[in-house]
Amino acid sequence: MTKIRSSDITPEQVYLSRRKFMTGVGALALLAACGRAAPESEEPPAALPVDPTLAPTEGAVAQTDELGDSFTTFEAITNYNDYYEFSTSKEAVARLAGDFPTRPWTIEVGGLVQKPRIFDIEDILRFDQEERIYRLRCVEAWSMVIPWLGFPLSRLLKEVEPLSSAKYVRFQSFYDPELMPGTLALPQYPWPYVEGLSIAEAMHDLTILSTGLYGKELLPQNGAPLRLVVPWKYGFKSIKAIVKIDLVEEMPASLWMASGYGEYGFWANVNPDVDHRRWSQATERRIGENGRRETLFFNGYADEVASLYPNLDSRDWYY
Ligand code: MTE
Repeated sequence: MTKIRSSDITPEQVYLSRRKFMTGVGALALLAACGRAAPESEEPPAALPVDPTLAPTEGAVAQTDELGDSFTTFEAITNYNDYYEFSTSKEAVARLAGDFPTRPWTIEVGGLVQKPRIFDIEDILRFDQEERIYRLRCVEAWSMVIPWLGFPLSRLLKEVEPLSSAKYVRFQSFYDPELMPGTLALPQYPWPYVEGLSIAEAMHDLTILSTGLYGKELLPQNGAPLRLVVPWKYGFKSIKAIVKIDLVEEMPASLWMASGYGEYGFWANVNPDVDHRRWSQATERRIGENGRRETLFFNGYADEVASLYPNLDSRDWYY
């Protein structure tokens, strides 16, 4: 058997082989392994033989989403990023965000709540973390399949006991121009990055706070140490590096709404029938694939979330 040095193993191979290994010991064990953003000690030992080419066996843990589409590679997920605080060049973000300090980190949760609270990132990692395999569909018409680690946002919100007057949730990213060169290059934007959800969207089980992907802690370029993931909405709603969450009465203005360009609105549900002003949303480029594929209503999550919008005109999904 060939021995593979740990330096030869990409995190993706380690992760996929661990998933395969875990098939033998049962799904519960997998959950336990993912119970926290996996510390290094949970990696297979360096000398463990890894054969990433092995085809999934009967009953193997899925390496696809529920539609049968393969995970996007770890390499692509961590090197092709939208994070304007660092750069508008997707290939430059990983390098520019590399030294971004994600510890210590606090998240202040307040506004219209009974029990406002400041959570340390360590408190956040104490919530039971689970794996969620979601498609991420960017408004720029590209997409990925990402195995996230995280937990439903609703669990965090329940801890602070929202008041009945709270109708929306406002999220705010970390902002420090000295650490985030992209903000200096875009002084016309109303930093910090802000996004929002309705209470019903925020409490929906598909809406998660993510702390990791591919079984490892999030890297800075993906929004470490804590980001939102709302899989049926365009990716810009999935705000990175969250430091503040407020329950509010009025619909919050996101950075994109406040920028004055009138391009991206509040709801931003993926909709192939409503084009962006400058390009079609009917199809998308799946990163790592050739050609284009059709974009799905609500990014393929219509059965789960369409009932959230009984009265919303489909044009309002976007703007
Ligand atoms: N969050 C912040 N703070 N700043 C950003 O520029 N970009 C958004 C979203 N969250 C962005 C952000 C966009 S447009 C997308 S598509 C996703 O992050 C991309 O996430 P990824 O780089 O992890 O794929």
